[in-house]
Amino acid sequence: MIRLEHVRKVYPNVTPLSDVNAEINAGDVISVIGPSGTGKSTLLRCINLLERPDGGKIYFGDEEITSPKCNIYKIRQKMGMVFQQFNLFGNLTVIENIMLAPVKLKGESRQSAYENGMKFLRMVGLPEKYLNYPDELSGGQKQRIAIARALAMNPDVILLDEPTSALDPTMVGEVQAVIRELARSGKTMMIVTHEMNFARAICSRVFYLDDGGIYEEGTPQEIFTRPKRQKTRRFIQRLHVVEFNVKDGRFDFPGAVSAVDTFCQKNMIGGKQSMKLQLVFEELTQEILSGVKNINAVIEHSEESGEIMLDVKYDGPLMNPSEGDEVSYSLLKAESSDIQYMAGESENFANRVKIFIR
Ligand SMILES: Nc1ncnc2c1ncn2[C@@H]1O[C@H](COP(=O)(O)OP(=O)(O)OP(=O)(O)O)[C@@H](O)[C@H]1O
Ligand SMILES: [Mg+2]
Repeated sequence: MIRLEHVRKVYPNVTPLSDVNAEINAGDVISVIGPSGTGKSTLLRCINLLERPDGGKIYFGDEEITSPKCNIYKIRQKMGMVFQQFNLFGNLTVIENIMLAPVKLKGESRQSAYENGMKFLRMVGLPEKYLNYPDELSGGQKQRIAIARALAMNPDVILLDEPTSALDPTMVGEVQAVIRELARSGKTMMIVTHEMNFARAICSRVFYLDDGGIYEEGTPQEIFTRPKRQKTRRFIQRLHVVEFNVKDGRFDFPGAVSAVDTFCQKNMIGGKQSMKLQLVFEELTQEILSGVKNINAVIEHSEESGEIMLDVKYDGPLMNPSEGDEVSYSLLKAESSDIQYMAGESENFANRVKIFIR
């Protein structure tokens, strides 16, 4: 239904989209997730041409909508857009807001636009508000009206950009219920959202945006329970990460210890676990790997599970800590819940050890 080929969007000092490729099929409900600033809003705005891509092509059916010959007003009518900030017209009543585009842009009769409008108002559960002005409605109600307004154009696809993030927590549920119902009815939708449980419950596909494109995509099951790539995993599991490098044997050990301490405090890692981490970190870098020239150490703390993983890669020769100094190794074992050694698994380092601390 919609195809993106090498879509690129450049702003003066940032390139949120460097190469986006995607195919959106009829009936897809796609969640777009990713860290702030990765271009999720930009992507939606490019799809309905509120922003002109600087490169690449977008097709809607067989038509290339990025072509200068394309009538973007016609195309936009086929795409409903729902914004975080509702964007209702304050000087028009609810029903007038909904009737406006069908009458003005599609030439629908007022009677038919009214009847349709009332139908969609019933669908979002607000028929009694038809003569109210937007200011007289709650945030959740405004957003449900905005959804009804988008539906009134009978679009082929609806693009929603964080439809619930400006709402009071008490009103999120009512808007999500409307969106869930739409998803169930088979409407093609693309939703930018930070609410992972919601995304997981309603969508058929997930796009994780990062590094200027769709960094990883998959089913909700794939992305939320077993993401393949590192950044996706860090985002989904809400991992806090700190990284250290030893190059040519130069290691600022006091600096690293203090950074580990700050990391624990910042992420509210409890005293016991933080002590274990410090001990393991110290034993590993100062005793077991002393003299190793190049080391890359990454500490990951999962906000989800509370577990810490110390992932350390180091130069050869092959050296499994379990076959080295017994005292050091038994200390590592005592403080951790699991130790995994892998040889020759990483590109730049001969050794890798993962230590898990609960
Ligand atoms: N009109 C603009 N002019 C210049 N830079 C822009 C413009 N719009 C967006 N950007 C920049 O492009 C990048 C992507 O912005 P975008 O709004 O698409 O991110 P996002 O993924 O939607 O983030 P969030 O989760 O915070 O909404 C950001 O660095 C932003 O500052
Ligand atoms: Mg955004």
